[in-house]
Amino acid sequence: MHCVTNIHEDLYWLGGSDRQLAKFENVFPIPRGVSYNAYLVLDEKTVLLDTVDKAVGERFFENLEFALAGRPLDYVVVNHMEPDHCATLGELLRRWPGAQVVANAKTVPMVSQFFDCDISNRAVVVKEGDTLCTGRHTFTFLMAPMVHWPEVMVSYDAADHILFSADAFGTFGALNGNIFADQVDFERDWLDDARRYYTNIVGKYGPQVLALLKKVEGLDVRMVCPLHGPIWRRDLGYLMDKYKKWASYQPEVRGVLIACASIYGGTETAAGILACRLAERGIPVELYDVSVTHCSYVLSDAFKYSHIVFASATYNNGIFTPMEELLRDIAHHALQDRTVALIQNGSWAPASGKLMAQILGEMKNMELLEQTVTLKSALAPGQDQELEALADALAASVRGEQDAPEQAVADAPKAKGFICRICGFIYESDTLPEDFRCPICGRPASDFEPVT
Ligand code: FEO
Repeated sequence: MHCVTNIHEDLYWLGGSDRQLAKFENVFPIPRGVSYNAYLVLDEKTVLLDTVDKAVGERFFENLEFALAGRPLDYVVVNHMEPDHCATLGELLRRWPGAQVVANAKTVPMVSQFFDCDISNRAVVVKEGDTLCTGRHTFTFLMAPMVHWPEVMVSYDAADHILFSADAFGTFGALNGNIFADQVDFERDWLDDARRYYTNIVGKYGPQVLALLKKVEGLDVRMVCPLHGPIWRRDLGYLMDKYKKWASYQPEVRGVLIACASIYGGTETAAGILACRLAERGIPVELYDVSVTHCSYVLSDAFKYSHIVFASATYNNGIFTPMEELLRDIAHHALQDRTVALIQNGSWAPASGKLMAQILGEMKNMELLEQTVTLKSALAPGQDQELEALADALAASVRGEQDAPEQAVADAPKAKGFICRICGFIYESDTLPEDFRCPICGRPASDFEPVT
């Protein structure tokens, strides 16, 4: 029994899919599973391009032995040394002691880090532009540092115009028999997972991805073989356009993502009303409760949409923790060039707005709309007008109209008054009486400081 698929001429896919793994990299939920692709070229020499995760290792070795049909394995090309592709490399090197390892100088020491083996006497060390002729095929190796690790490279087969792209152009999702992107409805069934994979795994490294895209544009690529997800042999322009947008942090959709973090529902109610007001204005809108939806999905949509509303309760004088996690994650992934708005909530000392603005202020080119909405526990009578005004401002900004006042996040509206260092209560006034005591914790005026 085998699961080897002939892709093109003498090129075979012999990967596998894991539908049981709950979290990829022990962090990203993958309800649709994930595939680990490896490729075998049966040329005058035999060439394996990458190995697989240990979850599908047994099947992989069965497939490889079947496909080789008794021939030796001459080369294994290691495009990426992360264990989801290389956990089986050590075993492969033991089973095929005559196989030479084609890798760059950053990869070779990593092999010894992961496995108790020294490959120095069987390594073919390659650098940018080096080639390997195996008969009909000549492979060219191009370095792609930080797409997704520093040692990543891609391999281009000039004979058949095939790019073995490592993590680039990959996606979450198990392969279900159909191995080519043109055999599935990619836009409908795969694009969201492809975006979530890209943004979470590689999204931080946009400039490095753009550098790789530039190299790829100089080649006559007619097929892309990634290490995860379907293989591309048609509509490569569609895929490249998506990658250019994601890597340059351009939104795909002019519309609004609302991310809310609500404790007892007051914040979520306001977020939901805002979503209705935006939809009434014909603005594409998506809303997530970040306590419920894993932040990898919200991060992915933050890359997708042009505008983001962060709506959060205040918690321990800070940002409610799921929202803080999301904002830190978005900042770590270097998202930039978005227009944002804030809804803050706090029953006695709303502080989440200012703190969210601080994190956004550390990011590049984030513009904050002026209409920050402040809730005290829940929407107060009349505050629906503030949401109407925010919806108007967002709609105008989404449409590119000029009447949506924006300001750099560093200039975010600041609360006036004095804040209790102990409990966070804010006394809203220009002056603080000397005999003032905090109505929440009872501390004296000396424990207050001006809100900055
Ligand atoms: Fe699919 Fe970076 O490993």
